[in-house]
Amino acid sequence: MKPKVFVTRKLPEAIIQKLETSCQVKMWEEENLPIPYEVLEKEILEVDGLFCLLTENIDRALLEKAKRLKVISNMAVGYNNIDIDAAKDLGITVTNTPGVLTETTADLTFALLMATARRLIEASDYLKNGAWQTWSPMQLTGQDVFGATIGIIGMGRIGASLAKRARGFDMNILYYNRSRKLELEKELDIKYVEMDYLLKESDFVCIMTPYTKETKNLIAAKELRMMKETAILINTARGGIVNEADLYLALLEKQIWAAGLDVFGEEPIAKSHPLLSLNNVVALPHIGSASIQTRLKMANLAAENLLAALNNQMPKHVVV
Ligand code: NAP
Ligand code: GLV
Repeated sequence: MKPKVFVTRKLPEAIIQKLETSCQVKMWEEENLPIPYEVLEKEILEVDGLFCLLTENIDRALLEKAKRLKVISNMAVGYNNIDIDAAKDLGITVTNTPGVLTETTADLTFALLMATARRLIEASDYLKNGAWQTWSPMQLTGQDVFGATIGIIGMGRIGASLAKRARGFDMNILYYNRSRKLELEKELDIKYVEMDYLLKESDFVCIMTPYTKETKNLIAAKELRMMKETAILINTARGGIVNEADLYLALLEKQIWAAGLDVFGEEPIAKSHPLLSLNNVVALPHIGSASIQTRLKMANLAAENLLAALNNQMPKHVVV
């Protein structure tokens, strides 16, 4: 009997075929709607493997129902959507997809930084809305990127790739991480500093840590107050790392200059959310890794991880 696998979102046909070579596959067929928790709760009862996305909340209650479940393969590098302690207690393997999305996410992070600094979305809307009447000295002026100071919080895979892009723009690169990266300091000419110093000195503060108990609300009112009035906050990591109510006030009161956000505490963020009413916010729908090539690599890697675990082999990327 082939093991049973449930896939929580419509995947490209080639990935399904790959899974079907050795599994019985059932899939949530919607492409643009997440599977409701109550549906997943039923589907998970009989399966040996789960292929899921970061949109699924895989909590202890769900896992306790999944008596046959051997492996959860998350198609993402971040795995804060999964109760890892519960999976460990229940002997369920969890895998993720690091590495294949690093450069694409660093590209998007730098693109968001540029778009926010130079007000690209606002400027494009201005033109399309017919507001452009003439060239004017201070019209739609932004902040310089070349030669500015960037502070990267979380110097892991994506943090380091972001630093490489910043190097190309001759930026002064500060970083804060829970462990120092001495090799990278030499290789990329980056400087380790305490977080307070980074916040005070940076023109751009970029968050690149995972979302954990320690990083929840890492950037809140106190941290925002330390930043320069001309500073820009970029978050492509996870929404919960920044306190959104505090960020809204800081932006409204011009304590900081702007924010570029690809991630939110609740996704999708409500259209009526106050942050979306601000001109100095560039907001994206969690597209950090969204290139065709990278999403296919992620799906492939997630399928390989799943198949390896079901075949009693060591998957490439095991979380627990
Ligand atoms: P990574 O290589 O594991 O890097 C994370 C870095 O954060 C590590 O260097 C880690 O330090 C550091 N860190 C962890 N906890 C910390 C803390 N409390 N204080 C300071 N530093 C801390 O992960 P990655 O591949 O770069 O990905 C980072 C995150 O980006 C993911 O977890 C995910 O949430 C997010 N992401 C978002 C998108 C998107 O579409 N927007 C795409 C991909 C990833 P150590 O070196 O000491 O472990
Ligand atoms: C995306 O956010 C990921 O964690 O891969």
